[in-house]
Amino acid sequence: MLSTRTATSCGVLASQRTSAQILKAFSGLPSSTNFSTRPAYIVVHKLQLSNPHRNFSTTPAPRIKEFFPPPETDNVRETPPAWPHPIYTEEQMNAVTIAHREAKNWSDWVALAAVRVLRTGLDFASGYKHDKAVALSKTDPAAANRKYAMTERKYMIRNIFLESVAGVPGMVAGMLRHLHSMRRMRRDNGWIETLLEESFNERMHLLTFLKMAEPGWFMRLMVLGAQGVFFNAMFVAYLISPRTCHRFVGYLEEEAVMTYTREIKDLEAGKLPLWEKTMAPEIAVKYWNMPEGKRTMRDLLLYIRADEAKHREVNHTLGNLDQRNDPNPYVSTYKDLSKPHPTKGIEHLKPIGWEREDVL
Ligand SMILES: [Fe+2]
Ligand SMILES: [Fe+2]
Repeated sequence: MLSTRTATSCGVLASQRTSAQILKAFSGLPSSTNFSTRPAYIVVHKLQLSNPHRNFSTTPAPRIKEFFPPPETDNVRETPPAWPHPIYTEEQMNAVTIAHREAKNWSDWVALAAVRVLRTGLDFASGYKHDKAVALSKTDPAAANRKYAMTERKYMIRNIFLESVAGVPGMVAGMLRHLHSMRRMRRDNGWIETLLEESFNERMHLLTFLKMAEPGWFMRLMVLGAQGVFFNAMFVAYLISPRTCHRFVGYLEEEAVMTYTREIKDLEAGKLPLWEKTMAPEIAVKYWNMPEGKRTMRDLLLYIRADEAKHREVNHTLGNLDQRNDPNPYVSTYKDLSKPHPTKGIEHLKPIGWEREDVL
């Protein structure tokens, strides 16, 4: 994929400035600025809208390379995704809304508190100050815009970081249930597949964003650290209380739906002009089966938001079940076909999850 470099690098260590200052320092620097000595957070690739098949680039030919091109072999034609994605209609994706499941017991409260702490940390790291921006925009919209406006670049940093950790819980939960099943010599009742599929889907989100932005070493270091801490924390937490972990992921996905909704709104409001000209990369078109004429950045964000809404539902539902004995409603077939049941698609999306008595 040919690309145009539109943003580059940082010249200071994170510990020396706040993230907002760092992000400020990134913006507006030409791509050639001391590239070797300044650690890039991300390099944003701009995919041109005018021709979805043949992208135009002003980058000199020798410097054009794909961030992770498909491996070239003599005999392999294609390596398709392990889990084909269910087809979403535009109507279904537009119907996705921000929602919150009320915490009902101590386990829910622990999960919610953990998500709030993480959210605060991520807001700080990615320079995202939505609540402050809304408050200031009521009295002085221009100042709010100057101070807190999110750019394509800030959103991309946030998305890449978020997606790089989002694929962890499903893999940890699936792995632990797999080991548990073998160790205890008993069935898992279908949970592993859905959990691994979720982490696969999150990794596809990450790979899609990586086709549009190339992380520098500072970003990679942050991802490495976050993965190290988060994987181990999830591993221990899932052994102690899997129910709390599923509720935690449910709440995390509520936040993800919120973030992507804001990105879509900002894009529609003309606040992200670069993304108005951006096309979904080929990896995304293939994975989501994006129809011709519906392959813009806005379309892509609709697909990803719908996936997050699905994870929100799945994890809130799993958090409502008996972790040891209940079958996974998402891979079960039902006796009564006259009423809606949980599915892999979003045709019966339930933002706060299905209650146990409604599905089993
Ligand atoms: Fe995601
Ligand atoms: Fe997610």
